[in-house]
Amino acid sequence: MASNSDIRNKPETRLFINGKFVESSDKQTFRLVSPSTRELIAEVSEASAQDVNTAVAAAKAAQPAWAALSPPERGACLRKFGDLMRENMKELATLEAISMGRPVRDYIDVYVGARLWDWFSEAGWAIQGSTSLNNPGMVGMTLLQPYGVAAGIIPWNAPMIFFSSKAAPALACGNSIIIKSSEKAPLTSAFLATLIEKSGFPPGVFNILSGHGTVSGATLASHMDVRTLSFTGSTATGRAISIAAAKSNLKNLHLELGGKSPAVVFEDADLEAAAATTQFGIGWNAGQICMGNSRIYVQDTVAEKFVNLFKEKWGSVRMGNPLDPEVGLGPVADSLQYEKVNKYIEIGKSSGAKVVLGGDKPTQSNQLGDGYYVPATIFGEIPEDSKTMKEEVFGPVVCINTFKTEEEVIEKANDTEYGLYAAVFTTNHARALRVAKAIQAGTVGINCSAPTNLPDLPFGGFKSSGVGREGMIHSMRNYLEEKSVMTKL
Ligand code: NAI
Ligand code: MG
Repeated sequence: MASNSDIRNKPETRLFINGKFVESSDKQTFRLVSPSTRELIAEVSEASAQDVNTAVAAAKAAQPAWAALSPPERGACLRKFGDLMRENMKELATLEAISMGRPVRDYIDVYVGARLWDWFSEAGWAIQGSTSLNNPGMVGMTLLQPYGVAAGIIPWNAPMIFFSSKAAPALACGNSIIIKSSEKAPLTSAFLATLIEKSGFPPGVFNILSGHGTVSGATLASHMDVRTLSFTGSTATGRAISIAAAKSNLKNLHLELGGKSPAVVFEDADLEAAAATTQFGIGWNAGQICMGNSRIYVQDTVAEKFVNLFKEKWGSVRMGNPLDPEVGLGPVADSLQYEKVNKYIEIGKSSGAKVVLGGDKPTQSNQLGDGYYVPATIFGEIPEDSKTMKEEVFGPVVCINTFKTEEEVIEKANDTEYGLYAAVFTTNHARALRVAKAIQAGTVGINCSAPTNLPDLPFGGFKSSGVGREGMIHSMRNYLEEKSVMTKL
């Protein structure tokens, strides 16, 4: 096993195609810069269109033999892969910290990801169609079959979770797969490529590419031989992928997109718990989380108390080097995120919002050097139509507004094109369920919030937050075609 300093000084940066590590066909690389220091960490292979085509061809050739294996034969490779991920937890945490700034303190991604490999390693037996005797003189049955070549395009905010939530079910269902990592966080996916052969996957079944949206992501989205594609990332890119799919082979799409998730806090809630939970819900991963509760509505009668509790909690989180185990707030992922988040902070300030916390460049900048650090920022009394209140900021910024009635807060919570996640805090059970029913979101937490998720429930978005669902059983639907077969008796 490589030592931790080897991992930092010489991480794997090549593409993994047809069971071999290769540089890109045209030798292109892209620069990966540390968000905490702005130093160059690695030059990473940038997959070309030719590399994508080679990977898809290898995946297409390898898939029939993979699908012909029994569930336990495929499952043994998945099980081993999950085990190896866990064994390399420290290395993966280090790579994520240096490439996208995730504090090692909160690095749960490998556990969450490995649990998916465990579960899908046993799931093959559950792939079963149905039968029908309803039609006189006929017997009907359905066959669930893999699509063939699957692709997964993943973002940078929690790569190990998304890598696993796409590759594990696709492979369990007998597809071959190509995962394309994000240009902002390619190192952990490239590292996982070193575990593929050790896990026993035959060459071509499991391929890993790094590169930007254009060329490699777009080439996968428009490829005629990719039959199903699962994407997690921004709504804008989800739209571009939908267009590319429509213009090529109408591949099956699963899209998990952005959010602007509301948390609603009623006056009868346990305010201390609600403040702690929602603070973590936006603070985790520097607010770079699709389901993060970026909008909080608190009932006016308890607003002052709630805001003070929230401020006290977030204000005491240490910001700094993500490799420091005491640090809870690292830098944002890269210069683009830094500019974007600061732009929304400026918009919030100029819209007349009250700055409750942060809102400025870090004051301890001498200790933080040149990193892309954005201090925890709380806006109060922000106009509902401010872009900072409406659009996905994806940074450590929360908007806290007040409401008077249940009816009013439901209307405000739903006044968005997003619908990924929502939370409601109250001790009134009937009210909690009324609000859960009324809110337009794919997931609602009652007295809990992001990133809480139950792995056996479906996860996905209402409205422009996505198409389709992921989850234990639910993910398998994204990787299986259903065929009707009928016999005349
Ligand atoms: P993005 O949506 O552009 O990137 C996500 C993935 O899609 C990356 O692997 C990227 O290379 C790929 N991609 C980009 N353009 C593509 C195309 N035309 N065809 C195929 N693949 C393509 O997100 P980005 O630029 O990294 O971040 C921008 C914003 O997106 C963030 O500020 C945030 O608001 C949002 N975002 C939301 C995420 C979520 O979980 N909902 C995750 C990542 C970003
Ligand atoms: Mg982008």
